[in-house]
Amino acid sequence: MTSLFDPLALGPITLANRLIMAPMTRSRADADGVPTDLMATYYAQRASAGLMITDATYVSPNAKGYSRTPGLHTAAQVAGWRKVTDAVHAKGGRIFVQLYHTGRVSVPPLLPEGMQPVAPSAVAIKGKNYTDLGPLDFVTPRALELSEIAGVAAEFGAAARNALEAGFDGVELHAASGYLVHQFLDSSINHRTDAYGGSVANRVRFALEALDSIIAAVGAERTGVKISPRIKFNDVTDPDAEEVYPHLAGELSARKIAYLHGGLQGAYPVHDAIRPVFKGRYFAGAGLDQAKGAAMLEQGAADAIVYGKLFISNPDLPRRFRDGLPLAADDPKTHYAKGPEGYTDYPEA
Ligand SMILES: Cc1cc2nc3c(=O)[nH]c(=O)nc-3n(C[C@H](O)[C@H](O)[C@H](O)COP(=O)(O)O)c2cc1C
Repeated sequence: MTSLFDPLALGPITLANRLIMAPMTRSRADADGVPTDLMATYYAQRASAGLMITDATYVSPNAKGYSRTPGLHTAAQVAGWRKVTDAVHAKGGRIFVQLYHTGRVSVPPLLPEGMQPVAPSAVAIKGKNYTDLGPLDFVTPRALELSEIAGVAAEFGAAARNALEAGFDGVELHAASGYLVHQFLDSSINHRTDAYGGSVANRVRFALEALDSIIAAVGAERTGVKISPRIKFNDVTDPDAEEVYPHLAGELSARKIAYLHGGLQGAYPVHDAIRPVFKGRYFAGAGLDQAKGAAMLEQGAADAIVYGKLFISNPDLPRRFRDGLPLAADDPKTHYAKGPEGYTDYPEA
């Protein structure tokens, strides 16, 4: 019977166990999106995870959506990430970078002078973006021109090439959480009438173009994808998730990617619906504890289990699970704060 502590072959690498650290934005990069030494310490502390997936990382200047988040499009960012991957590999860990474009979730002060957030359609998000300049209203994004879309997809490939240079073991495409790839998938956000809107195949097109540009750069066996259909975040609704996600999973199966990461079993039962139709490694995440994760592995409902908040406050989570040690709780106030507090000061058991 498969357990959390069994190794898992993933393309060319082998994970020492099946506890995956979820991608989590922690806002400890510098103002230019360069990963800091503090980030190297944080990831090295958690290197006993079978695999870590990094903070969502923007692929180009126009893809940034939050203060102090990391990027992967400049030489300085590559050098900063190299320190992170070296620190992780020195401890025997494995690390994938999660790549994203925030699309309409961004606000102009975070973008280069004169740039507007872009999206499939000019549909604004409700609410505010909590930046270092204070809370800012979201703006109506500029709908991408048809002629621009291939270039935006190619930014993912360029960042993926940088990921290899930075020493990452692979790349996760962030197709979840209402960011640009997800904005194309969701018919309540994507009102396009060209080849990127309307039918399910058209709305999935941008995800596949971004994915194929990553695959061309790093290989399918080093590429994962995260999805979170109907997540209650960033005004996602996914009215026809029942059609979109099985179709997407079929396309992903055909590409023989390293894994598919279902980031939320919520209003759409992604683990139950997608695991059976995706032909490859399936990672299940969100709201799982040790018992639930172990049960899913035993039942074959997933190949590995993704833990987020538990890894924030328990850097040695695999050992705590294995030895039945007490678990520390995380402090949400420090999730996106500056400095080491609530970041690198959670001790090992
Ligand atoms: C502080 C914080 C930041 C997050 N940032 C990201 C992110 O950058 N990319 C992503 O795909 N999910 C992000 N998530 C969602 C997590 O990956 C995960 O799906 C979520 O925390 C649920 O898992 P859990 O119950 O094990 O914490 C974030 C979650 C938290 C708590």
